[in-house]
Amino acid sequence: METKEVIYTNTEEIRKRGKKFENKTVSIRGWVWNKRSSGKIRFLIVRDGKGFIQCVIDNPLLYDIFDECTQESTCEVQGILKEDKRSPIGFEILTSNIKLIHKTINYPITPKEHGIDFLLDHRHLWIRSRKQFAILRIRHSVKNFIREYLNKEGFIEFDSPIFTPSACEGTTTLFEVDYFGDKMYLSQSGQLYQEAGALAFEKVYCFGPTFRAEKSKTRRHLIEFWMVEPEVAFATLDDIIQIAENMIFYVIQKVLESNSYELSILERNLDDLRKIVPPFYRITYTEAVELLKSKGFDFNFGDDFGATEETAISESFDKPVVITHYPKSIKPFYMKIDPENPNFVLNMDILAPEGYGEIVGGSQREDNYEILLQRMKEENIPLEEYNWYLDLRKYGSAVHSGFGLGIERFVAWICKLDHVREAIPFPRMLYRYKP
Ligand code: 4AD
Ligand code: MG
Repeated sequence: METKEVIYTNTEEIRKRGKKFENKTVSIRGWVWNKRSSGKIRFLIVRDGKGFIQCVIDNPLLYDIFDECTQESTCEVQGILKEDKRSPIGFEILTSNIKLIHKTINYPITPKEHGIDFLLDHRHLWIRSRKQFAILRIRHSVKNFIREYLNKEGFIEFDSPIFTPSACEGTTTLFEVDYFGDKMYLSQSGQLYQEAGALAFEKVYCFGPTFRAEKSKTRRHLIEFWMVEPEVAFATLDDIIQIAENMIFYVIQKVLESNSYELSILERNLDDLRKIVPPFYRITYTEAVELLKSKGFDFNFGDDFGATEETAISESFDKPVVITHYPKSIKPFYMKIDPENPNFVLNMDILAPEGYGEIVGGSQREDNYEILLQRMKEENIPLEEYNWYLDLRKYGSAVHSGFGLGIERFVAWICKLDHVREAIPFPRMLYRYKP
């Protein structure tokens, strides 16, 4: 291909700054997404990893190479960039040259409908499709804007270990691993280490993969998922609720601003996202139970909410709802007992609207040594593994609070997905761990 006066670019640049290349010769490198013909004109839709662009071919000399360009073949296309009002990226290419870099034969994912198992078996290729492209780019933005928000608010990223000798969220969902002959677990949550971090650096967060051997086969459960866990010294339950609300608001605003292309591919209703402005609704566990009863649920006070109950509660609100003060009996040992009623704890879950259920779980932490020790004994927690954690209440204890937000559930809600499995590149689920 000639190199004179050619602008090597990509569809993201064209989408954002295409005007400056209009009527000039551009070159893009990518893969054949789709193709069609209409009379004497051929159309090649090319994806370059940043977007999709239509390349128009009206020169009969290019028909042969067009025929060679099968779905997912690697190619380079040169041509004049023309404005196209109907195009989602605003431009198309009037093709002058096509170079076939790699010819793909029999690409398994065709434009016809495929079953979910087939698609999951081909996840390594499925991620190239338009919808998956949009979701995973939004996932990137969500992670990026979460970090941006927390860093701006004075947090530092403080990594929790993945191998841990102790449990955070109960012993029933632990993955055991052999650590040179010792028993260790994959982390269910980085929280306990964040508490050490908060007393050392005041505002910290970890952001990493977490693991739960949960035998749940729902639209909301993954075995390996990513969680961001901020933890703040001198923060009460109210303070941490506000941080969570502001963080969610910030991320959604930023995604609306910078991912309109991806949201349009997903046909997401933007007004539903624009409504997500703090403060969110707030109710107690007790009020949530009353709400369920008023909706005809036969619910036992003291039980935990399952997916059906969460959906029913969140459907009553057009913004997220924060549920506080759950019974102590269904919550972990580290949550602070409500000083006004010792049967409850100072915790919060945030349920997303549109039926997405719990996206955040957090609490004020028990900062009193005696009370914490008592609770750990009641729950038969092996104290020798938690000496370091108890130290945090012996040396410079302070009121502190934190929460965890599950990335896949947050992304599933923003993208309005049916299942969290599409919100992570390679999902790990109860019966699936390949590819
Ligand atoms: O409510 P969880 O279990 O809270 C904790 O782990 C706390 N230690 C966090 C903290 O305070 N630092 O989990 C927090 C969030 C949930 O609200 C949900 O969004 C997500 O993690 N989550 C899952 N996401 C996908 N699949 C699963 N199996 C999940 N379990 C929890
Ligand atoms: Mg929870």
